Amino acid sequence: MGKLSNQVKVAIEKALTERIEALKEIVAGPELIKGFDPTLPGRRLPAGHLHPITLILNEVCGVFEKMGFSIAQGPEIELDFYNFEALNIPPDHPARDMQDTFYVDDKVLLRTHTSPIQVRTMEKMSPPLRIIAPGKVYRCDSDVTHTPMFHQVEGLMVDKNVSFSHLKGILTYFAQEIFDQDTAVRFRPSFFPFTEPSAEIDIQCVMCRGKGCRVCSQTGWLEVLGAGLVHPAVFRHVDIDPDVYSGFAFGLGIERIAMLRYGINDIRLFYDNDLRFLKQF
Ligand code: FA5
Repeated sequence: MGKLSNQVKVAIEKALTERIEALKEIVAGPELIKGFDPTLPGRRLPAGHLHPITLILNEVCGVFEKMGFSIAQGPEIELDFYNFEALNIPPDHPARDMQDTFYVDDKVLLRTHTSPIQVRTMEKMSPPLRIIAPGKVYRCDSDVTHTPMFHQVEGLMVDKNVSFSHLKGILTYFAQEIFDQDTAVRFRPSFFPFTEPSAEIDIQCVMCRGKGCRVCSQTGWLEVLGAGLVHPAVFRHVDIDPDVYSGFAFGLGIERIAMLRYGINDIRLFYDNDLRFLKQF
């Protein structure tokens, strides 16, 4: 066995030495083996980047964080109570039809908006409070400006003497930070059961500069958020005295903002996962 293992050792050493010499020649010599140049840098692995919706979501949160809002979160699979009832939308209320809901069972659903986080936050914290709540929401909806899953950012500020002018000021500042300083913003009277008064806020369509096109349904404006002053009934649900405190809330649609920012004319492109589209951001 001793003799045999010595022969094996010699054979391996010889093979290794030959190979090392051969490689040294390849690396040092001017003539490289066909197609392989060890002096070239390695091939980079293709690196991904953040999705355009994540980019806008981060930017939007950044604008509010600068104004002192902190981030709150809540579950995507939500109780009917937080999504509707505590927001002053009792069972069988017609306002439930404003949002086409995916139900899990008769008490549990996929949240249709980020507004339940208003209630969850006020249950845990007492005023003064100033939060934003970014997240995914779900509705049975699909066309050029609607997807079944989309992102909202909820905002809530509660303190003594909070008024509609604070809401207007903050949202106008937000629009001018995200778009440019002369972006036109329009406050339109609207209705939400959990705010009074309520408004819908439109931003001038950047596709057609307000002339009217497919994206803005020929109106020149794109609705990006709903807002209003917190309804006293919502405050009562969480034991906050509406005679002492007031507040505003808003819920903005991130995909709509991304459409305006990037000039996208069909919201569904964000979720087709076509790399030719996604690589442009
Ligand atoms: C709401 O969801 C309210 N919770 C907003 C709110 C919050 C009002 C706080 C008052 C106080 P609305 O259903 O209008 O409201 O949706 C808000 C925004 O989400 C819309 O302005 C729009 O930008 C966006 N949005 C709504 N449905 C879709 C959808 N299917 N796809 C993409 N974006 C949508």
